[in-house]
Amino acid sequence: MELMSHSSTFLLPNLSSDGGPVLTYVLVILNQHLPRFTPLIWKHAQLHMCADGGANRLYDELPLLFPDEDALAVRIRYKPDVIKGDMDSVRDDVLGFYKNLGTEVVNASDDQDTTDLHKCVAYIQDLPNLKNQNICILVAGALGGRFDHEVGNINVLCRFSSMRIILLSDDCLIQLLPSSHHHEIRIQHAFEGPHCGLIPIGGPSKSTTTGLQWNLDDTEMNFGGLISTSNIVKEEVVTVRSNSNLLWTISIKKP
Ligand SMILES: *[C@@H]1O[C@H](CO)[C@@H](O)[C@H](O)[C@H]1NC(C)=O
Repeated sequence: MELMSHSSTFLLPNLSSDGGPVLTYVLVILNQHLPRFTPLIWKHAQLHMCADGGANRLYDELPLLFPDEDALAVRIRYKPDVIKGDMDSVRDDVLGFYKNLGTEVVNASDDQDTTDLHKCVAYIQDLPNLKNQNICILVAGALGGRFDHEVGNINVLCRFSSMRIILLSDDCLIQLLPSSHHHEIRIQHAFEGPHCGLIPIGGPSKSTTTGLQWNLDDTEMNFGGLISTSNIVKEEVVTVRSNSNLLWTISIKKP
């Protein structure tokens, strides 16, 4: 089985692949509190999207991260390339502001069956100029707030299990480790950890790990039984192999 490498190098001031694959980052901003490191991951991303009301967050909250600067100048500097969604939460003034700056607006209000994040991921998947690139989608504001939204976002990880998608908040990140691969996670100890978890998401799993305080050794996990929460990363590299998809989550350190 093939090995898939992961490393949160997007949290570093300067991108490096840290021995892992070279990735093309895309940032998607959802309608939740904007993480403090948004300007950093913005810099690393080659495409910047807002999902519907995520545009309000960018407009309202990003200038607060640059208190010494003129808000208008900050908003112009951080102009999203695309706003996509069913357009029921983005404010008219915000939409008008970014449209004037040249942001592409994709009104997907005819599709009421999928979430705004799903719509954005589908859009990114279909972009011809990103085809054949090793894409990693960073989702800011994916956690916190309404639980049905959080679960909807986790469901997107499962719907697009062959894509690299990382849900981010100020406190932690969540990504899917598909059972189609063995996994090697290089830990950026300066920026993440030590708390972590491995959660069986689609059904019972049998999993083996190294690099954790409480490792799994062909251990069965399932909801209602054992799941691995409040675990601790102990080494530079964590390895995971499992016969079923797992969610990996790790805490993000406060500066
Ligand atoms: C989006 O499209 C719907 C249906 O065509 C329309 O009613 C709505 O006004 C549009 N919203 C925006 C912000 O363009």
